[in-house]
Amino acid sequence: METSKLGKSNLISSRLVYGCMRIVGDNSDADREKGKDAIRTAIEEGFTHFDHADIYGGGQCETLFSEVLKEMPGARENIIITSKCGIRRTNQPNQGDPGRYDFSKEHIIQSVEGSLTRLGVDCLDLLLLHRPDYLCDAEEVSETFQELRDAGKVLHFGVSNFRPSQVSLLQSYCAMPLLVNQVEINIHNIDALSDGTLDQCQELKITPQAWCPIAGVAYPAWGNTFSEEDEVRLKSEFDLQSQEYDSENGIIMLAWLLKHPAMILPIIGSTTPSRIKAAKQALDIPYSREDWYRLLEARNGKPAG
Ligand SMILES: NC(=O)c1ccc[n+]([C@@H]2O[C@H](COP(=O)([O-])OP(=O)(O)OC[C@H]3O[C@@H](n4cnc5c(N)ncnc54)[C@H](OP(=O)(O)O)[C@@H]3O)[C@@H](O)[C@H]2O)c1
Repeated sequence: METSKLGKSNLISSRLVYGCMRIVGDNSDADREKGKDAIRTAIEEGFTHFDHADIYGGGQCETLFSEVLKEMPGARENIIITSKCGIRRTNQPNQGDPGRYDFSKEHIIQSVEGSLTRLGVDCLDLLLLHRPDYLCDAEEVSETFQELRDAGKVLHFGVSNFRPSQVSLLQSYCAMPLLVNQVEINIHNIDALSDGTLDQCQELKITPQAWCPIAGVAYPAWGNTFSEEDEVRLKSEFDLQSQEYDSENGIIMLAWLLKHPAMILPIIGSTTPSRIKAAKQALDIPYSREDWYRLLEARNGKPAG
């Protein structure tokens, strides 16, 4: 599969990242088997970058992933494992605790230790702060990153869902470059195109990753505000482009993301082997500038220019 360097590092990632948020499903034996199959398929299809978080499946997604790694000797050495931390659920660890963000040294280190144990690995290739903590002390986070790196527990760092000002603040305290900003980008949520996120990524050589890339195409996006008329107009353009490129709507969406010069890495979240394989087709679509703008026009209901 096509590859891409992550940020200012020499880490080479597959252009499509595989997202592990859904791999345990409802945690039944059947869903866990399906999840393992999905991971094996992703590895076999050339995905070399796997995205986790301490909270996915309440930790079960990382545990399931380690089961597959054990079955596939040598696999660990050939992949990038990312995990995320910083979100704490209501009533955790104590009854009555509020849902919150927590970038304290104590929590970040505890979270990383938990991820390493569940994943059964010595180090994370990349750790992302999951969502901005209003009480973030950038100096403390920077010290924590250094401590984790010195201990060999995390090799590289990045952020997720950070606004450009939050990236700048944290980067101003961190000696090492932040490699990634993982944000929601799909046909419904295109904020990153105009709020400075993708501009900053290009300016500072930070790799943007797109979560829920096909929301609004295959399933409703978070907080969907499209009217029925918008949906019909958009679907009709997707259908036309699918025909033109002999593809399907979800793949066209991925091609749209891949076309952006910030080198967005879409994170593929399907647990269906045929869909995981099919996602790679997006890399071969000679997607035109005109079609990129046609889809934007269909989304917005008016021309860009
Ligand atoms: N940083 C953050 O805050 C954040 C937030 C959310 C997600 N993420 C990351 O982003 C990754 C990807 O997110 P995502 O899972 O939402 O990605 P996605 O690829 O946009 O969506 C995957 C979902 O769409 C379904 N799907 C795919 N093709 C379909 C089709 N043609 N028709 C109907 N349903 C279809 C899949 O079902 P099947 O499994 O049945 O194929 C699966 O439930 C996650 O795994 C996680 O790693 C990060």
